[in-house]
Amino acid sequence: MEFQKLIEVRCSVRDYKKELIDHDTLVSILKQAQMAPSWKNQQTSRVYALETAECLDELREKILPSFNAKSSSGACLLITTFVKDVVGFGPDGTPTNELGNYWGAYDLGLHDAYMVLAAANEGYDTLIMGIRNEEVIREALKIPKNEVIVSVIALGKRNQEPSLRPRKELDEVVRFY
Ligand SMILES: Cc1cc2nc3c(=O)[nH]c(=O)nc-3n(C[C@H](O)[C@H](O)[C@H](O)COP(=O)(O)O)c2cc1C
Repeated sequence: MEFQKLIEVRCSVRDYKKELIDHDTLVSILKQAQMAPSWKNQQTSRVYALETAECLDELREKILPSFNAKSSSGACLLITTFVKDVVGFGPDGTPTNELGNYWGAYDLGLHDAYMVLAAANEGYDTLIMGIRNEEVIREALKIPKNEVIVSVIALGKRNQEPSLRPRKELDEVVRFY
């Protein structure tokens, strides 16, 4: 898809068809997300992909508050995490600068941005959800303590056209020098 069109088509979708993504397309999207840049190419982003109906039926309502479970109904769920204390840290374990583990979150954000755009390019929609039950996710998926759980991303096909989302004027968010 042409890049400008891709940017326009990607938006948060909160109403999905009951139609799960096939495994090969999911793998293709995940591989494209891996091409995102990362600090010293450390690639600390991790994904836990809930793709089967059985798994989703068991976990959706447990790992998400009811409004996000409802918004993502019908879609598969990708839990994204990053391995902490690596990105933004020197070999001796001290933070390279004041941002410390924010750099891990930065890398994961880039990874997830690639992922939602790759999904859009494959004709799939997404919803990034930051409101989720961290403890339940960690326990259910046996996510190790050295990983920071960040988002749950719904991935599926839109059931209806979402409403447009306004953006601020550029001069509110950018200064040119
Ligand atoms: C880090 C992050 C967390 C978010 N958490 C939620 C959420 O828990 N539930 C939800 O419905 N939308 C969530 N969103 C979606 C935003 O509301 C949405 O991206 C924003 O309103 C802009 O709309 P757009 O994605 O359609 O451009 C989140 C987005 C981001 C980037």
